[in-house]
Amino acid sequence: MRQDLINQAVAVIRTNDRGAYTVPTQGLYPFQWNWDSALVSLGMSHFDENRALTEIETLLAHQWEDGMVPHIIFHQHDYGYFPGPEVWNTGRKVPTSGITQPAVAGFALKRLMDRSSRPDALKARAVVSLRKIHAWHEWFFRTRDPEGTGLVAIIHPWESGRDNSVDWDDAFTRVPTDGVAPFKRRDTSHANPAHRPTDEQYKRYIYLVQLFRSLGWDNAKLHDASPFRVVDPGFNAILLRSCSDLAALARDLGEAAIAEQSQAFANRGIAAMETLWDKELGQYFCYDRVANRLIESPSVGGLLAAFCAVPPTRAKAIAARIADIANHCRFLVPSHDPRSPDFDGTRYWRGPVWLVVNYMIADGLFAAGETTIAARIEADSIRLIEESGFAEYYDPITAEPCGGGSFTWTAAMVIEMLSSGKIAA
Ligand code: DGY
Repeated sequence: MRQDLINQAVAVIRTNDRGAYTVPTQGLYPFQWNWDSALVSLGMSHFDENRALTEIETLLAHQWEDGMVPHIIFHQHDYGYFPGPEVWNTGRKVPTSGITQPAVAGFALKRLMDRSSRPDALKARAVVSLRKIHAWHEWFFRTRDPEGTGLVAIIHPWESGRDNSVDWDDAFTRVPTDGVAPFKRRDTSHANPAHRPTDEQYKRYIYLVQLFRSLGWDNAKLHDASPFRVVDPGFNAILLRSCSDLAALARDLGEAAIAEQSQAFANRGIAAMETLWDKELGQYFCYDRVANRLIESPSVGGLLAAFCAVPPTRAKAIAARIADIANHCRFLVPSHDPRSPDFDGTRYWRGPVWLVVNYMIADGLFAAGETTIAARIEADSIRLIEESGFAEYYDPITAEPCGGGSFTWTAAMVIEMLSSGKIAA
């Protein structure tokens, strides 16, 4: 049965493979997405490690001169997606969006190299990618942490990957909708509109795109100009984990300066994560950098923080918090606490379970020795696939498959989880 699931997962990835990159799913997302590709490369590495590395290399080939790695690469025309390249208008030869996404690539590159059957043959390619990823990390701390706090802000909810999380609701009220050019959404013709963000949220997403476009996509200006600046613990944990993994990989590859600076980023950032800790709830919160206050929203962003090397007491508290949440749903880990009045089990990031998030939380908790809850998270993930197939996300109570179908990163995570030997066969 488990081998059968792996075979099905490989077939999903192959269907969405465009040669040198994958699309997340046909129709809804017809281009290359940044953190999708990095996570997908891990699943691919179990059946084609050369192609897996290519996935990351294709993404990094579209890095901007300032170091940013964009969140979408529009390799081919497709009118089935909004907002397309004409809305972003970033002036790139191969069009890209103008914002970024969670920095998973550093973590993924190290994992690919650790498990490679021929690391010496891949070494030269790995060094090239390592340097580009490091430039991206430097870009983050230079442009998204201008005051040197150790933590970076996102300036658009799409950067977090958790587009319509309850976490952004308050901060989003500051983003106006005046002057937003009329548009037609395409996502709602591919997926159930009840599973997607609202029209009101879309207007604000587009307001921010128009604002940044009017500033010429100049990253020296965007952070301070954005009315939306939020420090997301999950987003930062991914970046900090990638920094520490890059430090270790750089040491192996003889890149001493990158190793030293990456380790310094990780150490400083992990210390700063303490400012986001909420003792009462036992998880991290987002911080609104414009309003200068913590955002007391019980979302998965504060649990995903376990992906980086937070202190053992914090990892233990997060494990306990997830065990408590388990009493209120059938499948871990819901993207929002099911007891909250804002919880919506089928609407994108306001409640559903996402396998990529489960994978990263479980990885961090396994590393911290919180193995019982980590194994439960992975076992729940596989039960979801058995009940509902390879969907984009799932209702944590009913297992209803939501969003797009035949989803590449969901398939990749199934291969990862079933191949790790950490959960019962
Ligand atoms: C979308 O279009 O839904 C994406 O999440 C934006 O990147």
